[in-house]
Amino acid sequence: MANNYYTGERAEIKIDGKTYELPIVVGSEGEKAIDIRTLRDQTAYLAFDNGYANVGSCVSKITYIDGERGILSYRGYGIADLAENCTFVEVAYLLTHGSLPTREELSEFSGMLNRFAMIHEDMIRFFDGYPPNSPPMAILSSMVNSLCSFYPEMTANPREDIDEMSARLISKVRTIAAFSYKNSIGHPVVYPRHDLSYCANFLNMMFDSPVKPYEINHKVVSALNKLLILHGDHEQNCSTSTVRMVGSARVNLYASVSAGISALWGPLHGGANQAVMNMLEEIHAGGGDFRRYVEKAKDPKDSFRLSGFGHRVYKTHDPRSWIIKQTCDEVLADLKSPDPLLSIAKELEEAVLKDDYFVERNLYPNVDFYSGIIYRAIGIPTSMFTVMFALGRLPGWIAHWKEMWDESDGRISRPRQIYIGPLSRPFVPIDQR
Ligand code: SDX
Repeated sequence: MANNYYTGERAEIKIDGKTYELPIVVGSEGEKAIDIRTLRDQTAYLAFDNGYANVGSCVSKITYIDGERGILSYRGYGIADLAENCTFVEVAYLLTHGSLPTREELSEFSGMLNRFAMIHEDMIRFFDGYPPNSPPMAILSSMVNSLCSFYPEMTANPREDIDEMSARLISKVRTIAAFSYKNSIGHPVVYPRHDLSYCANFLNMMFDSPVKPYEINHKVVSALNKLLILHGDHEQNCSTSTVRMVGSARVNLYASVSAGISALWGPLHGGANQAVMNMLEEIHAGGGDFRRYVEKAKDPKDSFRLSGFGHRVYKTHDPRSWIIKQTCDEVLADLKSPDPLLSIAKELEEAVLKDDYFVERNLYPNVDFYSGIIYRAIGIPTSMFTVMFALGRLPGWIAHWKEMWDESDGRISRPRQIYIGPLSRPFVPIDQR
């Protein structure tokens, strides 16, 4: 095997009295895997793992997660370092290009984001067609897919001008998100400005109005940069794997990302930040007694899950939730807007971390538990929280689409299955059924 992650070590597997060998893969952080790509050819057996909890779908150079030690890094840089020292645009460049930008590269990338900030006036009229209270994630997914209509060259040559396509998407998704909010409250859209940074521009497009100029608060801009950075990428989560899967059929970037947005919408995934906020508001409205929710979550007969807790990979604290919790305190103090939901969230976290049910299952707060409290303090409506997750995750989706396209030896992703349905049976005409 040509690649340097094959060490020459081999695993042995014994089936029906015969021993087979399979190569071992070792990642740059020491993760080990058995390459089963020849398993079926050698043994006629498939490997089985519904939900893919124990199988690697690819090798990747983008993000590393250590679920046991609570480690997360993008292209080798620790998440805390990036959140503390970078802007979201710098991290978007890191994820999509592979290295942190020089001043010149950053200036050129920021210029592209400015150049692509507007959406076609015809697209603004699309908003008139959505019924009031349309789900923002439905609007975002369809508007991103609709961008393909304005850039037909992309469908013909999906991999060409990828830097321009990426910058265009990162900039326009921000504009679409803000415009969809303005449209949902019946206010005129606020156009992007070239004199504002990525996050300041978003906030201005969201909250500026012809009758009351929006006063940009640099602490809020800094908090939004951190939130978007923390959501930037997370290796093969459900929505990123969706982008890779759809892209593997040689579908263009925008349609692949549109599919990822739909996956992220789910309450078990990115939709959890909205579910957390709804749960905290219910607890608050009920007098603050969160114990009923904890007991519901522990009841095996009840499908209710405590949103914002647990993770497929992290079996200790999600490193992002620490940083978000700290940022919560900073933003609420600066805005002098104490939020009773933050106190409830902290009490709930404290109770859960002492409860055997959660401790035995390694259920800790994840990225979604505290993020909504900051979005709420900034003035972003709960219905837009998962859209904010998508804004942050977009550079990660783009990076994985590019990596899949360049390094997946061009094959379409197509898992197998184990059939457990009825055996062959003779056809029965409808009158005899
Ligand atoms: C994100 O994958 C990523 O990287 C995702 C993400 C990213 O950045 O892309 O990190 C973003 O999606 C974070 C997760 C947001 N979702 C939630 O907060 C929803 C609540 N959490 C769960 O539904 C759950 O924890 C998942 C979906 C996050 C993980 O599910 P798993 O890995 O399939 O865990 P599981 O269902 O096998 O649960 C193991 C046990 C079960 O109990 P037992 O059957 O062993 O008795 O833990 C229980 C579960 O019932 N459990 C919970 C729980 N999460 C798991 N019980 C109560 N409340 C919860 N939140």
